[in-house]
Amino acid sequence: MPSSVSQGVLLLAGLCCLFSGSQPQDPLEMDVDEHDHDHKEHLLCYRVSYIIIQITFTLYHKSDSWSKQTNVLFSPLSIIASSLMLSLGAKNNTHDQILEGLNFNLTETPENFIHECFQQLTYILHLPDHTPQLTMDSSLFTDQKLKLMDKFVEDVRRLYHSKVIALNFKDTQRAQNQINEYVEGETHGKIGGLVKEMEADTDFALMNYIFFQGKWYDDFEVERIVEQDFHVNSDTTVKVPMIHRRGRFFLYRDLDLSCWVMVQHYMGDATAFFMLPDQGKVQELEKTLNQRHFENILQLIDIRTADLYFPRLSIATTYDLKTILSTLGITEVFSKEADLSGVTQDAPLKLGKAVHKTVLTFEDDVTVPTRNTSWSKRDSPQNFSIHFNRPFLFVIKDEYTNCPLFVGKVVNPVTND
Ligand SMILES: *[C@@H]1O[C@H](CO)[C@@H](O)[C@H](O)[C@H]1NC(C)=O
Ligand SMILES: *[C@@H]1O[C@H](CO)[C@@H](O)[C@H](O)[C@H]1NC(C)=O
Ligand SMILES: *[C@@H]1O[C@H](CO)[C@@H](O)[C@H](O)[C@H]1NC(C)=O
Ligand SMILES: *[C@@H]1O[C@H](CO)[C@@H](O)[C@H](O)[C@H]1NC(C)=O
Repeated sequence: MPSSVSQGVLLLAGLCCLFSGSQPQDPLEMDVDEHDHDHKEHLLCYRVSYIIIQITFTLYHKSDSWSKQTNVLFSPLSIIASSLMLSLGAKNNTHDQILEGLNFNLTETPENFIHECFQQLTYILHLPDHTPQLTMDSSLFTDQKLKLMDKFVEDVRRLYHSKVIALNFKDTQRAQNQINEYVEGETHGKIGGLVKEMEADTDFALMNYIFFQGKWYDDFEVERIVEQDFHVNSDTTVKVPMIHRRGRFFLYRDLDLSCWVMVQHYMGDATAFFMLPDQGKVQELEKTLNQRHFENILQLIDIRTADLYFPRLSIATTYDLKTILSTLGITEVFSKEADLSGVTQDAPLKLGKAVHKTVLTFEDDVTVPTRNTSWSKRDSPQNFSIHFNRPFLFVIKDEYTNCPLFVGKVVNPVTND
């Protein structure tokens, strides 16, 4: 790695662009002095992050994995990182399909730069004090009889902070249990029973999981927790615990999208953008939403005094990564045509099982402070209240690297996967 970690940190600090105040543009369209190497390297990581953001919206709009009726939650960063990690062991068309599916043009962004940018990203996200509320990992499992290529094992560790674990896949049920125990151990019990079924001929599996516990950074006092109606759709209403806060929030009314946008900082350098469409407008918002809508948010956002009602909620989703990646045209790695000769040369290999698991909790440990003032007695100057009591969308990004960690939609706060 040519650049030191501190340079890498600086490099990432300058990364684009989602939600930044300036107008993001494709960095390749910018004027670059070819001789300015550092600048060029900087722009290449900038481009990598630009591509992550593009893929985020493509995935949201196209994947068959998300249904209209249920909550959606996925981690674009984690999906892209694990796919790139896989590409380290792929050759020929299998390899090209992954990089093309992720929209990388190797003429413009050399492959080693892509991995180096991800190495920096992974490094930062795994710093112990960067995001203690975030666990993001991928693990690969291969059959123990296969001799793995040293370079692959080393690159997976060095660039993606991940491990390749050997198992006896002959006994499918036992291998499945071992995978589940491993992930449960790595997540301190937060993610258990990850793999529910596995085909008998599986000898290569990818487990990709991300866990985040959203704790508000700002010290807004909780006024009270009340049971209120959440309008899932025009026919269904459920009761949910709503946390009522009164204070000054970053809010903005987007007239074009017919929604409220709230920006909230969470502990550990994460910023969430919550988009609350008017009743019945959620699908319209989903259709039109793209990265351009985020470009101006920070300029438009306003600080408003309000009564905020936000549900206490915890969402977990489990997706077959195969379905998600097929949206991007990445299919060969899962088929018998797969060329994974960078993983092992002992036998033809395909990715038999790949799971993307995401767990996100908001406000789950909030308590009402004991104090002797009644909420109703304090005055709210503008008498303005906002209720997250109908389906809403959100994007959570890492503040430091500006990369989207999560994208999701809450349709019903009281269902889970
Ligand atoms: C690469 O793939 C093409 C078409 O799929 C095949 O014809 C060729 O033999 C492959 N090359 C190697 C080195 O495997
Ligand atoms: C990749 O980039 C090069 C150089 O900009 C361009 O000529 C080529 O058409 C691009 N390929 C694709 C598939 O977009
Ligand atoms: C709250 O304050 C009022 C007036 O200061 C006092 O009369 C009341 O006993 C207090 N209540 C509690 C539960 O401390
Ligand atoms: C605040 O608004 C509600 C609903 O519009 C209204 O019923 C209430 O009287 C208002 N309160 C004050 C103090 O203006």
